[in-house]
Amino acid sequence: MGTAQKRYVTIRFVVFYGQRATEFGQQSFIMKYDQVKQDLKANPKTWLITGVAGFIGSNLLETLLKLNQTVIGLDSFATGYQHNLDEVQALVTQEQWQRFTFIEGDIRNPKDCYKACKGVDYVLHQAALGSVPRSIDDPITTNETNIAGFLNMLVAARDEEVKSFTYAASSSTYGDHPSLPKVEENIGNPLSPYAVTKYLNELYAGVFASTYGFKAIGLRYFNIFGRRQDPKGAYAAVIPKWTAALIKGDTVYINGDGETSRDFCYIDNAVQANVLAAVADDEVKDNVFNVAVGDRTTLNDLFKAIKMNLAKTLPEVATAKPVYRDFRAGDVRHSQADIMKSKTLLGYQPTYKIKDGVSEAMPWYLNQ
Ligand SMILES: NC(=O)c1ccc[n+]([C@@H]2O[C@H](COP(=O)([O-])OP(=O)(O)OC[C@H]3O[C@@H](n4cnc5c(N)ncnc54)[C@H](O)[C@@H]3O)[C@@H](O)[C@H]2O)c1
Repeated sequence: MGTAQKRYVTIRFVVFYGQRATEFGQQSFIMKYDQVKQDLKANPKTWLITGVAGFIGSNLLETLLKLNQTVIGLDSFATGYQHNLDEVQALVTQEQWQRFTFIEGDIRNPKDCYKACKGVDYVLHQAALGSVPRSIDDPITTNETNIAGFLNMLVAARDEEVKSFTYAASSSTYGDHPSLPKVEENIGNPLSPYAVTKYLNELYAGVFASTYGFKAIGLRYFNIFGRRQDPKGAYAAVIPKWTAALIKGDTVYINGDGETSRDFCYIDNAVQANVLAAVADDEVKDNVFNVAVGDRTTLNDLFKAIKMNLAKTLPEVATAKPVYRDFRAGDVRHSQADIMKSKTLLGYQPTYKIKDGVSEAMPWYLNQ
């Protein structure tokens, strides 16, 4: 048996016997992502990233351009920034940057969606209004963007016959289901308008798969963090918000007693999941996958990890203490993913634990 054949057998073994993956398979999983990247380099494709000027979108853009792919990006700058695109431009070669076409447009406008989907192989749909509190303050705009906009994108992608449609789903879909870790099949009642929109995305994607044979894969992100995640504004996520506050010497507020826990997942893991999902075999359709690490970190421990990391550069941060206040409406108490399905069917293998991710992300915030 030749080396390539052996590798194939190993990957198939791990794919079908994912339970044993952590014992033997780590290298094979990594090889799967490496293999996919090599294949894409040899056979470049055309990708559409919606929400390309945002946190996750701009990181997908960076990875795909570095793999010499052709990328179309759609964004309305609702919560994304030109400076995220400028940063990616500075990180890739001129030749790679020329393979990028930006469309300033809105997913609530079907024409923009059709224009963006033309000639595309793979769609990575990230555009949405994130944040549970934002959706509680303004459920209508969240609904228009996350549900009507999502449907516009699905229809355009179906009509333009893209090969696959990978979309940003959310761990908020688990709602009030008490079990831990979260397994894809067991969800509860949504706890916020945002969670309703993300669950509806899954329902629409499922119906498009069964009705039109359309390949749509949802990635339920669990608290993704890393470079270019926006630290500003009332709806900023916890890691960039606390990091910016500590750097500026501002107070860090913890909602509740700090024992609320999350499965924080570094951006490079999420990028890997997107690439693997987009090119996944055809039998992997009408499906949702957890994208996380499979660990649980309390807010108190997260605060310590960020503080200790920043203190290496800013010693005065070492003595900072958080201020505790009320729990926030719509938040679930604990969240932790079971990632066996993503490992088994997609070959996903997170390469960053929270501590590695925090160490990688802090220099970016310090440089801002
Ligand atoms: N970051 C996380 O932890 C997390 C967790 C679960 C789900 N998600 C989902 O992942 C996706 C990306 O999130 P992010 O953290 O990068 O947020 P982000 O706000 O940085 O990115 C979203 C991007 O979508 C764009 N956008 C918003 N409305 C649009 C519209 N109507 N038309 C075109 N573009 C529009 C924004 O301008 C922004 O650039 C979202 O769908 C979000 O709901 C994120």
